[in-house]
Amino acid sequence: MKSKGSIGVFDSGVGGLTVVKQISQKLPRENVIYLADEAHVPYGERHPYEIISFALGITRFLIERGAKLIVMGCNMSSALALSPARKLFPDTPVIGVIEAGVRAALRVSRDGKIGVLATTGTVNTHAYRDAILRLNPSAMVVEQACPKFVPLVEADMADSEEAESAAHEYMKPLLSADCSTIILGCTHYPFLAGAISRVAGKHITLIDPAEETVVEAANLLSSSKLLDFSGDEPSYIFFTTAKTEKFADLGSKFLNREIQNLVEVSWGKELGAVEWQEKTVEQTTKSAL
Ligand code: DGL
Repeated sequence: MKSKGSIGVFDSGVGGLTVVKQISQKLPRENVIYLADEAHVPYGERHPYEIISFALGITRFLIERGAKLIVMGCNMSSALALSPARKLFPDTPVIGVIEAGVRAALRVSRDGKIGVLATTGTVNTHAYRDAILRLNPSAMVVEQACPKFVPLVEADMADSEEAESAAHEYMKPLLSADCSTIILGCTHYPFLAGAISRVAGKHITLIDPAEETVVEAANLLSSSKLLDFSGDEPSYIFFTTAKTEKFADLGSKFLNREIQNLVEVSWGKELGAVEWQEKTVEQTTKSAL
Protein backbone atom coordinates (compact mmCIF):
# COMPACT_ATOMS: atom_id res chain seq x y z
CA MET A 1 0.00 0.00 0.00
CA LYS A 2 1.48 3.32 -1.10
CA SER A 3 0.44 5.20 2.07
CA LYS A 4 2.93 2.95 3.91
CA GLY A 5 5.75 4.29 1.75
CA SER A 6 8.25 6.92 2.84
CA ILE A 7 8.83 10.58 2.22
CA GLY A 8 12.07 10.71 0.22
CA VAL A 9 14.22 13.76 0.89
CA PHE A 10 17.65 14.59 -0.52
CA ASP A 11 20.34 17.24 -0.50
CA SER A 12 24.06 17.59 -1.17
CA GLY A 13 24.70 17.11 2.56
CA VAL A 14 23.14 17.88 5.93
CA GLY A 15 21.05 20.83 4.65
CA GLY A 16 17.98 18.77 3.79
CA LEU A 17 17.79 17.70 7.44
CA THR A 18 16.05 21.05 7.98
CA VAL A 19 13.18 19.46 5.99
CA VAL A 20 13.47 16.17 7.91
CA LYS A 21 13.23 18.04 11.22
CA GLN A 22 9.99 19.67 10.07
CA ILE A 23 8.63 16.30 8.91
CA SER A 24 9.35 14.79 12.32
CA GLN A 25 7.38 17.64 13.94
CA LYS A 26 4.49 18.08 11.51
CA LEU A 27 4.14 14.54 10.12
CA PRO A 28 5.37 12.37 13.03
CA ARG A 29 3.79 9.16 11.71
CA GLU A 30 5.56 9.24 8.35
CA ASN A 31 8.58 7.15 7.37
CA VAL A 32 11.52 9.08 5.94
CA ILE A 33 14.35 8.07 3.63
CA TYR A 34 17.06 10.65 3.21
CA LEU A 35 20.01 10.79 0.87
CA ALA A 36 22.97 13.12 1.43
CA ASP A 37 25.10 13.38 -1.69
CA GLU A 38 28.22 14.16 0.33
CA ALA A 39 30.43 12.83 -2.47
CA HIS A 40 29.50 15.96 -4.42
CA VAL A 41 29.05 18.60 -1.72
CA PRO A 42 29.12 21.55 -2.23
CA TYR A 43 26.72 21.71 -5.17
CA GLY A 44 26.88 25.52 -5.32
CA GLU A 45 29.53 26.02 -7.99
CA ARG A 46 28.73 22.94 -10.10
CA HIS A 47 27.35 22.99 -13.63
CA PRO A 48 23.54 22.90 -13.85
CA TYR A 49 23.67 19.71 -15.98
CA GLU A 50 25.48 17.92 -13.18
CA ILE A 51 22.92 19.05 -10.62
CA ILE A 52 20.02 17.86 -12.80
CA SER A 53 21.70 14.55 -13.48
CA PHE A 54 22.41 13.96 -9.75
CA ALA A 55 18.88 14.96 -8.75
CA LEU A 56 17.30 12.58 -11.24
CA GLY A 57 19.57 9.71 -10.20
CA ILE A 58 18.80 10.28 -6.52
CA THR A 59 15.06 10.64 -7.18
CA ARG A 60 15.05 7.29 -9.00
CA PHE A 61 17.03 5.70 -6.13
CA LEU A 62 14.56 6.97 -3.52
CA ILE A 63 11.51 5.87 -5.54
CA GLU A 64 13.02 2.40 -5.98
CA ARG A 65 13.34 2.26 -2.17
CA GLY A 66 9.68 3.04 -1.60
CA ALA A 67 9.34 6.84 -1.66
CA LYS A 68 5.68 7.84 -2.14
CA LEU A 69 6.63 11.54 -2.29
CA ILE A 70 9.94 13.19 -3.13
CA VAL A 71 10.93 16.45 -1.45
CA MET A 72 13.97 18.05 -3.03
CA GLY A 73 15.52 19.38 0.17
CA CYS A 74 17.99 21.33 -1.91
CA ASN A 75 17.35 24.70 -3.52
CA MET A 76 19.69 24.17 -6.45
CA SER A 77 17.99 20.89 -7.33
CA SER A 78 14.58 22.53 -6.84
CA ALA A 79 15.56 25.40 -9.16
CA LEU A 80 16.92 23.17 -11.91
CA ALA A 81 15.56 19.64 -11.67
CA LEU A 82 11.96 19.88 -10.50
CA SER A 83 10.35 19.88 -13.91
CA PRO A 84 12.63 17.15 -15.43
CA ALA A 85 11.96 14.95 -12.38
CA ARG A 86 8.20 15.41 -12.68
CA LYS A 87 8.40 14.43 -16.35
CA LEU A 88 10.65 11.44 -15.75
CA PHE A 89 8.76 10.10 -12.71
CA PRO A 90 5.11 11.02 -13.37
CA ASP A 91 3.72 8.46 -10.88
CA THR A 92 5.38 9.97 -7.81
CA PRO A 93 4.70 13.54 -6.68
CA VAL A 94 7.85 15.68 -6.48
CA ILE A 95 8.05 19.02 -4.68
CA GLY A 96 10.85 21.50 -4.05
CA VAL A 97 11.55 24.19 -1.47
CA ILE A 98 11.55 27.40 -3.53
CA GLU A 99 7.86 28.08 -4.16
CA ALA A 100 7.12 27.30 -0.52
CA GLY A 101 9.85 29.67 0.67
CA VAL A 102 8.49 32.43 -1.54
CA ARG A 103 4.92 31.97 -0.26
CA ALA A 104 6.13 32.11 3.34
CA ALA A 105 8.20 35.25 2.69
CA LEU A 106 5.40 37.11 0.93
CA ARG A 107 3.02 36.22 3.74
CA VAL A 108 5.14 37.93 6.39
CA SER A 109 6.63 40.79 4.34
CA ARG A 110 4.84 44.09 4.86
CA ASP A 111 6.90 46.17 2.41
CA GLY A 112 7.83 43.58 -0.28
CA LYS A 113 11.58 44.18 0.25
CA ILE A 114 12.94 40.66 0.18
CA GLY A 115 16.53 39.49 0.37
CA VAL A 116 17.59 36.01 -0.72
CA LEU A 117 20.76 34.34 0.55
CA ALA A 118 21.57 31.32 -1.63
CA THR A 119 24.33 29.39 -3.35
CA THR A 120 25.92 30.75 -6.52
CA GLY A 121 24.08 28.15 -8.61
CA THR A 122 20.66 29.04 -7.21
CA VAL A 123 21.29 32.78 -7.58
CA ASN A 124 22.33 32.23 -11.21
CA THR A 125 18.95 30.66 -12.01
CA HIS A 126 17.09 33.63 -10.43
CA ALA A 127 14.44 31.11 -9.45
CA TYR A 128 13.64 33.04 -6.25
CA ARG A 129 13.48 36.45 -7.91
CA ASP A 130 11.23 35.13 -10.68
CA ALA A 131 8.89 33.29 -8.31
CA ILE A 132 8.58 36.32 -6.00
CA LEU A 133 7.86 38.71 -8.87
CA ARG A 134 5.29 36.31 -10.34
CA LEU A 135 3.29 36.53 -7.12
CA ASN A 136 4.05 40.17 -6.31
CA PRO A 137 5.27 42.18 -9.34
CA SER A 138 5.96 45.23 -7.19
CA ALA A 139 8.31 43.40 -4.79
CA MET A 140 11.96 44.39 -4.58
CA VAL A 141 14.32 41.39 -4.55
CA VAL A 142 18.04 41.32 -3.74
CA GLU A 143 19.77 37.97 -4.30
CA GLN A 144 23.16 37.32 -2.73
CA ALA A 145 25.41 34.32 -3.44
CA CYS A 146 27.16 32.95 -0.33
CA PRO A 147 29.80 30.44 -1.47
CA LYS A 148 31.53 30.27 1.95
CA PHE A 149 28.45 29.15 3.89
CA VAL A 150 27.96 25.48 2.87
CA PRO A 151 31.61 24.44 3.44
CA LEU A 152 31.43 26.08 6.91
CA VAL A 153 28.27 24.17 7.83
CA GLU A 154 29.65 20.88 6.52
CA ALA A 155 32.85 21.45 8.55
CA ASP A 156 30.74 21.94 11.71
CA MET A 157 31.83 25.60 11.87
CA ALA A 158 28.40 27.24 11.92
CA ASP A 159 29.21 28.92 15.24
CA SER A 160 32.70 30.09 14.32
CA GLU A 161 34.19 33.55 13.80
CA GLU A 162 34.55 32.68 10.11
CA ALA A 163 30.79 32.13 9.89
CA GLU A 164 30.13 35.44 11.61
CA SER A 165 32.43 37.35 9.25
CA ALA A 166 30.96 35.62 6.16
CA ALA A 167 27.49 36.58 7.42
CA HIS A 168 28.64 40.22 7.67
CA GLU A 169 29.99 40.12 4.14
CA TYR A 170 26.89 38.55 2.57
CA MET A 171 24.34 40.57 4.51
CA LYS A 172 25.84 43.93 3.48
CA PRO A 173 23.93 44.38 0.19
CA LEU A 174 20.70 43.18 1.79
CA LEU A 175 21.05 45.62 4.67
CA SER A 176 21.93 48.46 2.27
CA ALA A 177 18.77 47.71 0.29
CA ASP A 178 16.76 47.78 3.52
CA CYS A 179 15.40 44.24 3.12
CA SER A 180 13.00 43.42 5.95
CA THR A 181 12.52 39.74 5.09
CA ILE A 182 15.33 37.36 4.24
CA ILE A 183 14.85 33.94 2.69
CA LEU A 184 17.45 31.35 3.68
CA GLY A 185 17.59 30.08 0.09
CA CYS A 186 19.87 27.13 0.77
CA THR A 187 18.80 24.38 3.16
CA HIS A 188 22.19 24.53 4.88
CA TYR A 189 21.65 28.13 6.00
CA PRO A 190 19.23 27.55 8.91
CA PHE A 191 22.30 25.99 10.60
CA LEU A 192 23.76 29.52 10.40
CA ALA A 193 20.60 31.28 11.57
CA GLY A 194 22.39 32.41 14.76
CA ALA A 195 25.19 34.19 12.90
CA ILE A 196 22.85 35.59 10.24
CA SER A 197 20.30 36.93 12.69
CA ARG A 198 23.00 38.52 14.86
CA VAL A 199 24.07 40.52 11.80
CA ALA A 200 20.51 41.13 10.58
CA GLY A 201 19.17 42.42 13.88
CA LYS A 202 15.77 41.92 15.47
CA HIS A 203 13.67 43.86 12.95
CA ILE A 204 14.47 41.46 10.06
CA THR A 205 12.52 38.22 9.64
CA LEU A 206 14.42 35.13 8.48
CA ILE A 207 12.45 32.59 6.45
CA ASP A 208 13.36 28.92 6.50
CA PRO A 209 11.51 27.44 3.48
CA ALA A 210 11.54 23.95 5.06
CA GLU A 211 8.60 24.81 7.30
CA GLU A 212 6.20 25.79 4.51
CA THR A 213 7.54 22.97 2.30
CA VAL A 214 6.42 20.39 4.84
CA VAL A 215 2.99 22.07 5.13
CA GLU A 216 2.75 21.63 1.35
CA ALA A 217 3.89 18.00 1.66
CA ALA A 218 1.24 17.33 4.32
CA ASN A 219 -1.52 18.85 2.18
CA LEU A 220 -0.40 16.87 -0.84
CA LEU A 221 -0.26 13.57 1.05
CA SER A 222 -3.65 14.26 2.55
CA SER A 223 -5.37 15.17 -0.74
CA SER A 224 -3.78 12.15 -2.48
CA LYS A 225 -4.82 9.86 0.41
CA LEU A 226 -1.20 8.95 1.00
CA LEU A 227 -0.96 9.79 4.70
CA ASP A 228 0.17 6.89 6.87
CA PHE A 229 -2.51 6.01 9.45
CA SER A 230 -1.03 2.60 10.30
CA GLY A 231 0.07 3.63 13.79
CA ASP A 232 3.40 1.84 13.23
CA GLU A 233 6.56 3.41 14.67
CA PRO A 234 7.95 5.57 11.81
CA SER A 235 11.29 4.51 10.37
CA TYR A 236 14.08 6.90 9.38
CA ILE A 237 16.70 5.58 7.00
CA PHE A 238 19.66 7.71 5.90
CA PHE A 239 21.96 7.19 2.94
CA THR A 240 25.15 9.07 2.22
CA THR A 241 27.41 8.90 -0.81
CA ALA A 242 30.56 9.53 1.27
CA LYS A 243 32.04 8.39 4.56
CA THR A 244 29.28 8.05 7.11
CA GLU A 245 30.85 9.37 10.35
CA LYS A 246 30.76 13.08 9.57
CA PHE A 247 27.14 12.98 8.45
CA ALA A 248 26.12 10.96 11.52
CA ASP A 249 27.81 13.36 13.96
CA LEU A 250 26.59 16.57 12.41
CA GLY A 251 23.13 15.22 11.59
CA SER A 252 22.54 13.84 15.09
CA LYS A 253 23.56 17.16 16.61
CA PHE A 254 21.17 19.08 14.39
CA LEU A 255 18.21 16.69 14.69
CA ASN A 256 18.69 16.24 18.45
CA ARG A 257 18.39 12.50 17.96
CA GLU A 258 20.93 9.89 17.14
CA ILE A 259 21.12 9.03 13.45
CA GLN A 260 20.94 5.27 13.24
CA ASN A 261 20.18 3.32 10.06
CA LEU A 262 22.90 5.10 8.12
CA VAL A 263 24.04 3.37 4.94
CA GLU A 264 26.88 4.36 2.61
CA VAL A 265 26.04 4.06 -1.09
CA SER A 266 28.15 4.85 -4.15
CA TRP A 267 27.61 6.54 -7.44
CA GLY A 268 28.19 3.99 -10.19
CA LYS A 269 27.06 1.15 -7.92
CA GLU A 270 23.73 1.64 -6.15
CA LEU A 271 23.24 5.06 -7.71
CA GLY A 272 23.42 6.11 -11.35
CA ALA A 273 23.36 9.68 -12.62
CA VAL A 274 20.66 10.24 -15.25
CA GLU A 275 21.56 11.96 -18.50
CA TRP A 276 18.99 14.59 -19.31
CA GLN A 277 19.03 16.69 -22.41
CA GLU A 278 15.90 18.56 -23.13
CA LYS A 279 15.64 21.83 -24.92
CA THR A 280 14.00 23.67 -22.05
CA VAL A 281 16.73 22.48 -19.69
CA GLU A 282 19.39 23.54 -22.17
CA GLN A 283 17.86 26.99 -22.21
CA THR A 284 17.70 27.11 -18.41
CA THR A 285 21.30 26.00 -18.29
CA LYS A 286 22.42 28.66 -20.74
CA SER A 287 20.61 31.42 -18.91
CA ALA A 288 22.12 30.23 -15.65
CA LEU A 289 25.69 30.44 -16.90
N1 DGL B 1 21.67 22.68 0.47
C1 DGL B 1 21.65 22.85 -0.93
C2 DGL B 1 20.76 23.96 -1.38
O1 DGL B 1 19.76 24.17 -0.74
C3 DGL B 1 22.96 22.71 -1.66
C4 DGL B 1 24.12 23.40 -1.04
C5 DGL B 1 25.44 23.10 -1.73
O2 DGL B 1 25.86 21.94 -1.70
O3 DGL B 1 26.03 24.02 -2.28
O4 DGL B 1 20.98 24.59 -2.40
